[in-house]
Amino acid sequence: MHENFAEILEPDSEEAEMLSQIDLGRLPNHVAIIMDGNGRWAKLRGKPRLYGHKEGAESVRSILDTFARLEIKAVTLYAFSTENWKRPEDEVKGLMEMLKYYINKEIDEVNENKIRFKAIGDIKGLAEDVQREIHDAEELTKDNTGTKLSVALNYGGRAEIVEACKKAFEEISRNGGSIEDFSEKHIEQNLYTHGLPEVDFMIRTSGEMRISNFLLWQVAYSEIYVTETLFPDFRRKEIFKAILEFQKRDRRFGGVKQN
Ligand code: IPE
Ligand code: IPE
Ligand code: MG
Repeated sequence: MHENFAEILEPDSEEAEMLSQIDLGRLPNHVAIIMDGNGRWAKLRGKPRLYGHKEGAESVRSILDTFARLEIKAVTLYAFSTENWKRPEDEVKGLMEMLKYYINKEIDEVNENKIRFKAIGDIKGLAEDVQREIHDAEELTKDNTGTKLSVALNYGGRAEIVEACKKAFEEISRNGGSIEDFSEKHIEQNLYTHGLPEVDFMIRTSGEMRISNFLLWQVAYSEIYVTETLFPDFRRKEIFKAILEFQKRDRRFGGVKQN
């Protein structure tokens, strides 16, 4: 068995069997996850929505632990969209409190796992205490060389592209260039994901077949995987299942398959 999993998986377990089927040389480089279905998960159990969000936080732990062990280069998690402010005040408040609590509680373990943490999105639009927690976590982990974790908070894909264009135009005009010099490269360089590998795998839990304004530019050639599993149930076994599915895909990038 992969040595990083030896301490946590029973040799004959179903998960160990799944792991043995994964080709470790062909893992996705950058996985983006739309973490959806916490509310439905709670509702099914007659509990308040925040209870679902708390269980969802455990799935985040499982994802980070599994990805760090697999040595996946980058993961970007959609945690709060610019549209999520529309939710009832109590839920928004609860989510922000949770965010602070979990960053604080988990960051030492994240750091020990050599994960580099970054928040992406309009972070200045978050409360100051949340911003401080984010800042401290980013500082603590900034030199880590393991999995690069980005958490999308107050994030919108269209807004990200608009911001990237603004920065690009500023740069071009500063250098005396004109609109004709503007290219895809200028957008790429000003996205939050600059410097990370291409998003090659996008996962959405809980069955919805939409992107909900997540990484609109980056998803151009991502493999998309939608599972009916609700996010609080998306743990190691489901992660392995998703990766196995990724490895069955035939990525053509507009070309034709060789052989
Ligand atoms: C996703 O779960 C978590 C966030 C958007 C913060 P939801 O809260 O959207 O759960 P459903 O979609 O209502 O089940
Ligand atoms: C997408 O889930 C946003 C996050 C996971 C943070 P939503 O539940 O907000 O998306 P819609 O409303 O189903 O499009
Ligand atoms: Mg939802």
